[in-house]
Amino acid sequence: MPNSCKNWSRWLATDTHAEIRPGTASPAKLADVLRVAARLGLEQLDAQWLLLHALGKPPTERAWLAAHAGDAVAPEQASAAAQAQALFTRRAAGEPLAYLVGQQAFYGLDLQVDRRVLIPRADTEVLVQWALDLLPALGVQPRVLDLGTGSGAVALAVQKNCPQAQVTALDASVDALAVAQANAARLDLPVTLLRGDWLAEVGSKFELILANPPYIASGDAHLAALAHEPMQALVAGADGLADLRQITAQAPHCLSAGGWLLLEHGFEQAAAVSALLVQHGFTQVQSRCDLAGHGRCSGGQWPGL
Ligand SMILES: C[S@@+](CC[C@H](N)C(=O)[O-])C[C@H]1O[C@@H](n2cnc3c(N)ncnc32)[C@H](O)[C@@H]1O
Repeated sequence: MPNSCKNWSRWLATDTHAEIRPGTASPAKLADVLRVAARLGLEQLDAQWLLLHALGKPPTERAWLAAHAGDAVAPEQASAAAQAQALFTRRAAGEPLAYLVGQQAFYGLDLQVDRRVLIPRADTEVLVQWALDLLPALGVQPRVLDLGTGSGAVALAVQKNCPQAQVTALDASVDALAVAQANAARLDLPVTLLRGDWLAEVGSKFELILANPPYIASGDAHLAALAHEPMQALVAGADGLADLRQITAQAPHCLSAGGWLLLEHGFEQAAAVSALLVQHGFTQVQSRCDLAGHGRCSGGQWPGL
């Protein structure tokens, strides 16, 4: 038996109380590997995706895994099985699946993500959809600015679905911009990347400004569950509105007359963000709901100075 195979049998026997014992002739099966994850309390889908990832297969190969669950772990799969166990342990300790597999689906795009960026959320697709609904009325080649782009999720989804738009993506984090740049290159989407502190140094005008800024209050209990993601992407002062206040105040200087500002915010912040938009002179102020029915994005039209 090759060494890698011996090691595989050993960890299965030691760490999982599985049926395989050191020195026994029968090799472990892929199903035994998945049982390790079940004992750690992992969701079946997570376990399958992590094992497929370790085996170098895409998540769409779940049917393959089901069909081969009874197959013995081949010698050349032994290190992948060990890697899967390490991933199971990290997942059981709370590390997000997207960071472990290095990817996240967003608005039909496969984005690469790691600890440098927030994992794009399904709620943010509401912001993208609203942008795509508005864009046809905003000119032939509307200029779009995505503030706090992170992985590039919003900017890339807009660019992909509205190829005539001229999309710029801005972030304060050099690390985030590197991830967004890599996603733009891999998806072959011509988004311009810019480093900046919100709109402080943006000199040009846009027909549409979008932002999913940090909006969690610094003392919020939910932060504990988000410890793996960058705090710079999450926290916005004592009430969670610091960045939303800043963007709302700055945006009129960077919007063309008739342009729109759309903001994602916390599920209890719609009234506060709408009030900020009205206070800064936006018209047609309104909110859109997430899948749970909470006001999740608010926006308004800039009438011009
Ligand atoms: C909630 S994340 C959103 C990421 C991405 N747009 C998404 O929806 O998945 C907020 C982003 O804002 C960026 N950010 C925080 N403060 C900033 C600032 N002062 N200027 C520009 N970007 C900032 C963070 O680096 C982070 O990437």
